[in-house]
Amino acid sequence: MTRYLITSALPYINGMKHLGNLVGSMLPADVYARFLRLEGKKVLYICATDEHGTPAEIAALEEGLDIETYCDIQHQRQKDIYMRFGLSFDYFGRSSSPQNHELTQHFYGLLEKNGFIEERGIQQIYSLDDERYLPDRYVIGTCPKCGYTRARGDQCESCASLLNPSELVEPRSAVSGSQNLELRTSKHLFLKLDALSPEIQAWVQSHGDWPKLTSSIAMKWLNEGLQPRCITRDLSWGVPVPREGYENKVFYVWFDAPIEYVGATKEWSDLDPSNRDWKSWWFDASDVYYAQFMAKDNLPFHTIIWPATILGTREPWTMASYIKGFNWLTYYGGKFSTSQQRGVFMDDALEILPPDYWRYFLMSVAPESDDSDFGWDLFAAVVNKDLAGTLGNFVNRTLKLVSSRFGTTIPDGGQWGEHEDELLAECTDTVEEYRTALRNFEFRKASHALKKLWTHGNVYIDARAPWSLIKTDRDEAALVLRTCINLVRTYAIASSPFIPFTSEALFDALDMTEEERKAGLDDALNLTALKAGRPFQVPPILFRRLDSDEVKELQRKFEGI
Ligand code: MF3
Ligand code: ZN
Repeated sequence: MTRYLITSALPYINGMKHLGNLVGSMLPADVYARFLRLEGKKVLYICATDEHGTPAEIAALEEGLDIETYCDIQHQRQKDIYMRFGLSFDYFGRSSSPQNHELTQHFYGLLEKNGFIEERGIQQIYSLDDERYLPDRYVIGTCPKCGYTRARGDQCESCASLLNPSELVEPRSAVSGSQNLELRTSKHLFLKLDALSPEIQAWVQSHGDWPKLTSSIAMKWLNEGLQPRCITRDLSWGVPVPREGYENKVFYVWFDAPIEYVGATKEWSDLDPSNRDWKSWWFDASDVYYAQFMAKDNLPFHTIIWPATILGTREPWTMASYIKGFNWLTYYGGKFSTSQQRGVFMDDALEILPPDYWRYFLMSVAPESDDSDFGWDLFAAVVNKDLAGTLGNFVNRTLKLVSSRFGTTIPDGGQWGEHEDELLAECTDTVEEYRTALRNFEFRKASHALKKLWTHGNVYIDARAPWSLIKTDRDEAALVLRTCINLVRTYAIASSPFIPFTSEALFDALDMTEEERKAGLDDALNLTALKAGRPFQVPPILFRRLDSDEVKELQRKFEGI
């Protein structure tokens, strides 16, 4: 039987992530993982914080913390919010772990041994007062093209020209403001992507089923011709480079980050080695199907550079079977921006509404074939119509009606008939549609199928009108309502990948045992699973509506700076 390995791109350690980050990697991966578990598959879903790199160092400096302490705090903060969103990682690791250090050095050692590493001298700005090299974007000065005084060494934000730091007039350090800078040459290691290009291309082309976005970005890189790529940096925070003369250097964050997919699995395995075997997932693992999730800016790293790293080791490490890339979720047409605090961040979101509102909404507008735009009015429309109006309404009126007319046990009487046959046939088709979409990584489609499944209940109850039926045929009304209660069970099971907290609330309302909650999608279609006489409770309102005043208020509050 196939085992499923799932990873979402590792979020950078610095700062709370926004809804754009969430929808482009972790959330769809979670939905997929939950779906496969529901199908009875063996799943391992891994993620971690991506902790190295200059932005983290600078953020720590700004907060007056040493980098380790900063990362400890931020890792915990991110982990907490992901748990609160119901992201069901089997393990959430840290790229600064000893496991990742060891694996990164192992990968490097093999690349070197196999002739895929070369050394070159490169020129960089050194800040004497900061006692460190500065990456291009940490050199600030006056733009030679437009005169903007706060241009960055990689690009001028004012006129958008691409720059290199030596072109800046009166360059200074973004860290301290010091102008005491000099150009120094130092040695660095390059991964020879050019030498691996034919193999990478063959690997990419052997995956004809990848989304267009993924293969087109990969082919664009390949067609432009791969160049050797620098994999080391003059920094102290990161994985040390095990080579003479490199004592003051570390690997570039993008070299060790994907290795942390493996590293995090080993962190997980090392916690309980007799029951967990990281290597069986990652090494010589022919029964593993490996799906990766990420936003499009990450695609070159996952289709070209990380595969090159693996191929160059000449060892059988698990490579992606499927790479799901996402376009951008925009915020009122612009970018969600961490630096400008523009958009909605995950912690803000949970202060407004519980996780399932966001989970369902985001997946229903997932930027799959194109960018999609966040708007509070759209959010409110989806919440009001799909969650409150369709699912919430059906559950609520069903359970309320039963409890007022029959009490809080499932009513007895009546005979399954052709209306019920029809309902079952429709639900069966729709569940199949849902399943096919999810198997094919089509999340928008899957969320639409789910909504359609919820609609069947409303159509059935409206057509059968048990509130009138009860006056003429109490048994028949009992049958209808019993079937509706069973549909609530169907919804609880089938919706769990998207809205797991709501599913639990429904299971609670139906008084279902732990064992009963484990039912899969086929079993979800049993519309006579819950028999007459079982107790249930009417749950509090499942989803509340957002009115236009509230929408205006939210728009105002989240305008950004
Ligand atoms: N931290 C990177 C980002 O947020 C993603 C790293 S994905 C990795 O863009 F796995 F390769 F680490
Ligand atoms: Zn400029």
